[in-house]
Amino acid sequence: MDTILEKVDKLNPYLNIVALKKAANILKNNNLVAFPTETVYGLGANALEEDAVRKIYIAKGRPSDNPLIVHIADKNDIYNLVDDVPETALILMENFWPGALTIVLKKSPIIPKTTSGGLDTVAIRMPSNKIALALIKECGFPLAAPSANTSTKPSPTLASHVYNDLNGKIDMIIDGGSCDLGLESTVIQVVNDKVIILRPGSITKEMLEKFVKNVSIDKALLDNKSDAVAKAPGMKYKHYAPAGEVFLIDGNINNVTSYIIDALRDDRFNNIKSIVIASDETIKNYASFDAINIGSRNNLDVIAKNMFNALRQCDSLNADKIYIESFLEEGIGFAIMNRLKKAASYKIIRV
Ligand code: TXA
Ligand code: MG
Repeated sequence: MDTILEKVDKLNPYLNIVALKKAANILKNNNLVAFPTETVYGLGANALEEDAVRKIYIAKGRPSDNPLIVHIADKNDIYNLVDDVPETALILMENFWPGALTIVLKKSPIIPKTTSGGLDTVAIRMPSNKIALALIKECGFPLAAPSANTSTKPSPTLASHVYNDLNGKIDMIIDGGSCDLGLESTVIQVVNDKVIILRPGSITKEMLEKFVKNVSIDKALLDNKSDAVAKAPGMKYKHYAPAGEVFLIDGNINNVTSYIIDALRDDRFNNIKSIVIASDETIKNYASFDAINIGSRNNLDVIAKNMFNALRQCDSLNADKIYIESFLEEGIGFAIMNRLKKAASYKIIRV
């Protein structure tokens, strides 16, 4: 299959209404279109059609028990898709939608089991990216959309990342430039007045607690082990992994940089191609090695935005080993470290 690639302006998507209509037609025919959101690129299909949704699992190589997020363009669209919207969910929708918050609730019968990965709940999000909103409106139905990467690979934050993974496997990619946040949404489950964070993201526990009282974090996220059983099925699988072996180095930043410099020297001596993912504050230490700078430790939003692209660059550079400096697990740092630990398959070296 030839994959169509079309550029659309994320500030003025209707300037290219032809591309939006083309994408909507593909989706109406139960085929797949990748599109940008403010978090990462999504691989969209009609969420209400099993035949369409099944193609997502095939294109990504995704296990069928890993449910998809359903994207809507209007808050009121949630009422068709879920059994009931508790007051707590309503408060969070009012304060965080459109945006990077995904809410898991009991599903209504209209959602096929293929979309919900066999569960009786469904994850819903209203994105803020204007292309995503325009596309959903043009379709007239909600779009199921996981991150548009091959399963196990880092999530795509540029159209070129989607192209590298899915060219020839999907009908169309809308290129809307880089994703503003670069980190997938916070996934929460809401049961009555209780909120459980199943996947951390840029909307943190502290931010949710400004509006609702009872917020907890899924215990599996607090265990530094790969076998902890997560409530979000997607969190249990290998994820965000480049081809090279990833090591996350944790500790006092001076110890971290000296450990990595030693490791890079050893690797060079042994003819192993290695790369370090570093920060503004540490990059000068690695002047004679391959290093990717993902931003300042004082601005973790930027680190989050650049992280997946850096992991993908390691693949382009054919790195055998990748060393990553760890970050403080505070605020969005908790989500950054969640992704990096998974990228490293929990190979964390404490120094
Ligand atoms: O920012 C995002 O959330 C992006 C953009 C495209 O919206 N999407 C995304 O989807 O990251 P995906 O499929 O890569 O990750 C969805 C996560 C998985 O960990 C999945 O297991 C979890 O949400 N999830 C989906 N439905 C669920 C449900 N009913 N119960 C528990 N977890 C669920
Ligand atoms: Mg994903």
